[in-house]
Amino acid sequence: MIILGIETSCDETALSIIDVTENEQGTQIKILANAVLSQIAIHTQYGGVFPMVAKREHGKNLTPLLKKVLEESGFSDSGETNSKLDSLATVLDREPELLKQLLDFLPTAKKPAIDLIAVTYGPGLEPALWVGVNFAKALSVAWDIPVVATNHMEGHILISLQQRNQDVQANSYQLKALSLPALALLISGGHTELVLVRDWLNYEIVGRTRDDAIGEAFDKVARILGLPYPGGPQISALAEKARSQQLTADSFSLPRPMLKSDNLDFSFSGLKTAVLYLTQKLPQPLSEDNKMAIAREFEDAATEVVIEKVRKAIDLYGIETLILGGGVVANKNIRSSFQKLTIEKNVTLHLPEISHSTDNALMIAIAGYFNRTKSVTETTGLLDIKANGNLSFPSTPTV
Ligand code: KG4
Ligand code: ZN
Repeated sequence: MIILGIETSCDETALSIIDVTENEQGTQIKILANAVLSQIAIHTQYGGVFPMVAKREHGKNLTPLLKKVLEESGFSDSGETNSKLDSLATVLDREPELLKQLLDFLPTAKKPAIDLIAVTYGPGLEPALWVGVNFAKALSVAWDIPVVATNHMEGHILISLQQRNQDVQANSYQLKALSLPALALLISGGHTELVLVRDWLNYEIVGRTRDDAIGEAFDKVARILGLPYPGGPQISALAEKARSQQLTADSFSLPRPMLKSDNLDFSFSGLKTAVLYLTQKLPQPLSEDNKMAIAREFEDAATEVVIEKVRKAIDLYGIETLILGGGVVANKNIRSSFQKLTIEKNVTLHLPEISHSTDNALMIAIAGYFNRTKSVTETTGLLDIKANGNLSFPSTPTV
């Protein structure tokens, strides 16, 4: 099955084409193309992501990116140029730039042998999500391909399960059977959730942040320290530098919010505020050493909290497998702390490759594959697929 994945929930415009087959070893995934166009340079000027700017950029980027992934997958060479363009103007009523570009491109493009289009319909920034959803619908009517609406967070979970095949061709992966019950810790710019997976593709949120997401806290602390957006990688680099120089925060410590609470919820807003108060007390401008020490202490505090909550959940539910997903999993300190915890607890750990931990469309194509029975076509409710910024689990489309 050939699947096109489309991801536009935040500030990354991403498309991916995969080829999925099943054999006795499990689900085999070959990546034919995987393109991510980051808008970070644009959003950095504003210090955060502006939904309407993200929407505009997605509209501008999707068609050139589609051209690129079709070329990379070899779909530009064969097939017929018989796209149905008559209803495109209706489908892309709200995306004039995208409509113009597609009307230029599609008559010249070969219809690709794609079996399914998977698109993120939530959660995320609604104006940004709509561009991807409308793009999926446009391609569906033009090429007569079914669409499956996909949950972004489920994508973050499923992509962590794929393991690179060592001795076969590059870009070839497999998804091994999962030992259940599993627990997924999803940590990104918009989410901090603990998801219990008792059965395959069955999700129950058992813990969540009560205020800021962990990635948001990284980004805000970075801003307090005068570092550019997105702050996660910046804080992480400073903290690592502090560790290599054995620089510790001897004279101050930050709180570990809700560390000892008897539930699985998180809170990161107080931690961020504690950093703000702390920096206000220190000599200005902040010295490099102070910045490094704060970054390290903040990262240690955030890591300790997620580790303790996961430890608690592992014991509570008798967890066999731990899955980490979301952009913050790129953090080296967090990755190595979970490696230690899972060895201690004798739990299997699934981590996404670092380059697959931030937003991409590969994860959407994979989630689409496992939800393929929920796909729709023009006649069976394509127009009912709606972007849902606050989408939660379970990932049933709002049709
Ligand atoms: O999953 P993602 O790409 O987008 C969302 O769905 O939010 O996650 C982005 C978040 C940002 O807050 C970014 O600062 C954070 O992931 N992040 C990191 C690191 N790399 C990205 N946080 C801590 N350490 C990192 N190395
Ligand atoms: Zn994400």
